[in-house]
Formats: sequence, structure tokens, C-alpha cells
Amino acid sequence: MGFTHRQLFQKHMAPTSDAPLALEIVSAQHIYLTDCHGKTYIDLISGIAVSNVGHRNPKVVQAIKNQVDQYMHLMVYGEYIQSPQVLLAEALVKSTLTNHLNQVYFTNSGTEAVEGAMKLAKRYTKRTEFISCYNAYHGATQGALSLAGDENFKNSFRPLLPDIQHINHGNLHDLSLITTKTAAVIIEIVGGEAGVKQASKTYFTALREKCTQTGCLLIIDEIQTGFGRTGTFWAYQQMDIQPDILLTAKGMGGGMPIGAFLANETVMRTLSYEPVLGHITTFGGHPVSCAASLATLNYIHENDILSGVRAKSDLFKALLVHPIIQEVRGVGLMIAVEMKDFKTVKAVIDTCIENGLITDWFLFCDNALRIAPPLVITEDEIKMACNILLQAMDKVFKN
Ligand SMILES: Cc1ncc(COP(=O)(O)O)c(C=O)c1O
Repeated sequence: MGFTHRQLFQKHMAPTSDAPLALEIVSAQHIYLTDCHGKTYIDLISGIAVSNVGHRNPKVVQAIKNQVDQYMHLMVYGEYIQSPQVLLAEALVKSTLTNHLNQVYFTNSGTEAVEGAMKLAKRYTKRTEFISCYNAYHGATQGALSLAGDENFKNSFRPLLPDIQHINHGNLHDLSLITTKTAAVIIEIVGGEAGVKQASKTYFTALREKCTQTGCLLIIDEIQTGFGRTGTFWAYQQMDIQPDILLTAKGMGGGMPIGAFLANETVMRTLSYEPVLGHITTFGGHPVSCAASLATLNYIHENDILSGVRAKSDLFKALLVHPIIQEVRGVGLMIAVEMKDFKTVKAVIDTCIENGLITDWFLFCDNALRIAPPLVITEDEIKMACNILLQAMDKVFKN
């Protein structure tokens, strides 16, 4: 007799921790996941900020099917003219509302977008130093990991890249670390894994000015915040600043793997000479992923998804009132519900999962519960989700 899927998972799947969720999901639609026992879960974290237009959004599924009927992989990135790539590149440039970020380099993932952007910043500025934020997460490959602001997370993998400095997100004083040695500052508008960390417009204006004065590039990582998560297509658009390099992935693919970095052509073209082929990828901008991404972007615009995000965020904040909660903070549908400690958060999460709702905590903020549902969640579904959350909080509070 063969092994069960659970046994195969335990035997042959490389683990990332000793406590995986280990739910065996057999189908997904909209905000719902169904497991092998027929139990349905509300997905309140979108596979970590991915399924912005819902699981298996019909427009995305159709675009994938259409593309598979035409062609899949043809050639490494940047050689052939492939309609899903060029149309997506055009749509991404348009989504920035200016022609400043007018070229797109497609990758397979977020961390690869970070790697590409770091190489681009080094190549363009001829400098080597990077500045990132404490408690930021930019990916798991070694360049991106070097940027992580948490020593515990990266210590076992040293030596990593030298010349990395850290600043506190939102702290004006720390901007003095940015000098003419800095190749780039990489920052999120809303710190995702730091537990939805926000900073003011004044801060981002000062940061932009400092980068311009010193000639370093400002890399805005919108891998978690992009594609509408915070209520505007890009979160930086709420700060009235222009990035020099913009990073995207996660929600970009509507459930398919893809990432990208955008920059002005004067910056971007430096990756194509000295050396020629200075940055290359086989699968970056896979046509099927590009078709899915374009359908996702169009779905967000055509269904006016952005206009509902703020009201939905307000509804979560209005409903989530409980003595166990210390603070609810959030921008759009990127919300952190802070509690006393990890033990409390974990007990609430476990009870929610028992009761059919999936949520989790943050990499560098384990005393807060993550709420990042598909942006297409309805008001009735928010009420239903909050009922499950509040019941779980009641149970944990009483114990
Ligand atoms: C802000 C941010 N940057 C980069 C990454 C890395 O993306 P990926 O997991 O696709 O490599 C993540 C992933 O969580 C992220 O949240």
C-alpha cells in the first residue's frame, strides 16, 4: 500500500520548520480553501499577500488557459518578443502613472527582484553599500538575506554581503547614515514582516531628498504592498514620492510565480553592457505567469477593487474590538492585530484554524496576528471572519 500524502509530506518534503501548518488543501476558490476532509477555511492571509484577486480568479484562470494553448516557455528572458511579457510591461509602466519607471525586468520571485535591483544599483552607481531597515525582510537568497535587519535570522549563513547598514523605519535621524558611499536604500512603504510598520509622508519626502542629494538610488520594495494591497495600486503613491527602482512579486501573479523590478531606461540599460548579459534568467517573465499577471492587473482596474479596500479595512478595524487586543494597525488590507505576547497570538491562531479560518503572525513581530485577505473579500465575509476571530479571542481570554 502506498503512503498517504501526509506521510509523503513528512518523509520527502524538505521542512522549513518543525511545526508546519500541514493542512491538506484539495481545492481553492475566492477566499475559501477546502481540505481533504471537506472542511472549508477562510483564507485571511492570501497565501501571504498573494491571492489579492482571490484564489482561482476566473479571469486569471482563463488567461492562463488561453496562454497555455498558445505557448509556454520559448526562450530565456529578453531575447524573443512575447506578447504576454510586452503587454504586461506596458501595463506595469502605466500603473505607475508617470513615465519615469519605464522599463521592466521580469523575475520568478520577490527575492530575485531584490537581487536584480541590488546588482542594478551597484552597476549604475558604481558603489557597493546598501542601507535597509531593522526588522525588514526582503527575501531568502544571499543578497536579499544580507539586507535582513535581524541578526538571528542571518547569522548561520555568514559570510553574507559586506557594506550593509541598517536604519530604523520612519526615523528621520537615521537618514544621516545615507552618504555618497551608498549605492541604494531599500525600504518598504509599510513594513510587512516587521508587523505592518508605518512611516509618515514627511519621512518618505526626507528619505527621497537624501537619496537624491547623495546620488544613491531609492529602491521601494512593494513585493507585499503592491497590486492594491494598501488601497492604491502601489503604496508609494500615497507618499507622493518616486522610487528609482520599484520591486514587485507576490500578488502580481494572481497565484502564479512572477516578480519584477522597474526602473528608468537610463538606469536599466546598464545591465546590458560591461558585461553584456549582466543579469540573465531562464524563466523570468514566464509567458503563462505574465498572462496571469496582466489578467490580475486588469481585474483590479476593471472591477474597481482599489476603491473598496479602505472601507473593508475600516470594517475590520471597527469589528475587531476585544480586551485581548492591544492595538489594531493597518493600511488597507494589510493589518496587524497586536496582543500581549506570542503565546496569546498563537492560541488565537490555533483556535481560528480549528474553527475554519487561516491567519498567522509576522516574521519579526510575533505578538501580532496577520490579516491580509484577498482584496475581493466581501463585507459579509469580513463580518463572518471577525466573528470567528472574536470567538477565538473570547476562548483564549477566558483561559
Ligand atoms: C517585502 C518583501 N520583500 C521580498 C520578499 C521575498 O519574496 P519571495 O518570497 O517571492 O522571494 C518578501 C516575501 O515575503 C517580502 O514580504
